[in-house]
Amino acid sequence: MKTLFFDTHQFDQDAFIAANKSFGLDIEFIASRLDDQTARLAENFEVVCSFVNDQLNDDCLRDLKNVGLKLIALRSAGFNHVDLISADKQGLMVARVPSYSPHAVAEFAIGLLLSLSRKIHHAYYRVRDLNFSLDGLVGFELNKKTVGVIGTGKIGSIVAQIMASFGCQVLTYDLHKNPDLEGHKNIHSTDLINLCAQSDIISLHLPLTPETHHLIDQDRISKMKDGVIIINTGRGALINSAALLEGLKTEKIGGAALDVYEEEEDVFFEDLSNKILQDDILARLLTFPNVLITSHQAFLTREALQAIAVTTLDSIKQFIDTGIVPPERIINSQSCAQGVSHV
Ligand code: NAI
Repeated sequence: MKTLFFDTHQFDQDAFIAANKSFGLDIEFIASRLDDQTARLAENFEVVCSFVNDQLNDDCLRDLKNVGLKLIALRSAGFNHVDLISADKQGLMVARVPSYSPHAVAEFAIGLLLSLSRKIHHAYYRVRDLNFSLDGLVGFELNKKTVGVIGTGKIGSIVAQIMASFGCQVLTYDLHKNPDLEGHKNIHSTDLINLCAQSDIISLHLPLTPETHHLIDQDRISKMKDGVIIINTGRGALINSAALLEGLKTEKIGGAALDVYEEEEDVFFEDLSNKILQDDILARLLTFPNVLITSHQAFLTREALQAIAVTTLDSIKQFIDTGIVPPERIINSQSCAQGVSHV
């Protein structure tokens, strides 16, 4: 069986080629995203591997079925880009990587926060221009601040513990209490209203589901502390971008660091440096001195890429050898209802 990898970049190819030395699978890479315009490229392949900004809608899945596809292997844990009801109807098996390196994302979230709180990104550019002045670089300390962590699964629980080790008071909110955080002196679980009212800094670590879509909206922002700092490494649409923009303009929000953005599909992962940016909200966000945006790179570590490659290739190999994939990696239309998260 042959596998076609969509939406690949050099870093994907390097990681998969290295890991495939142990699996010996027949794999090919293309740069095109997988969607209803490109699904037919999978003709002559039995497996496709896709990433987070591909669009596996009903038309795309029908085309994949029609070209004889057997397995869709997502090289992500997240699956909000796949119409799982349609995949079930087409009889297409969908596998994912449920967990790779939560530390990669947690450490990046902290990195964004530190850069924002101490203006390190501004200082870096100044010094390169031989501007060694300190005016305008006054930051704030994290020690003794209250940090709200929304979502205390694999990533959020690490963020909570790192922030507690900085001497912060950590408030957490999740549908389910994480036993790993129980009894920690500086970490306390609370409800969302209290977390928003009390926190100087709020970091989002939730999956994107119908319930969490625009969790941070104008109303929620109005109930936050003045000058609140918002960090989002979860999914862009957890935040209503227009409300975020308004909060920044009125200075209700004191800063934002975003590794994910609501409309990132059209922008992130591409070099648009010679193009005209069409997204006016993103363009405006980029003008704020207290906004730091990265292009969905929190997962991008050597360790995470290796783990993603090994798990994905292992799923494909097991499918080829036995016709099945380990059940914890399979997702279907029941997965959301069962509370499986999107990563
Ligand atoms: P996880 O599944 O371990 O944790 C998610 C937590 O969210 C769970 O504890 C769950 O109970 C909670 N949750 C789900 N729905 C909720 C709701 N409606 N209200 C309150 N809590 C709810 O997931 P993990 O691995 O910690 O990932 C968290 C986030 O990180 C996801 O949004 C994912 O998309 C994002 N992510 C971002 C990456 C990046 O490169 N920027 C890479 C990997 C993950």
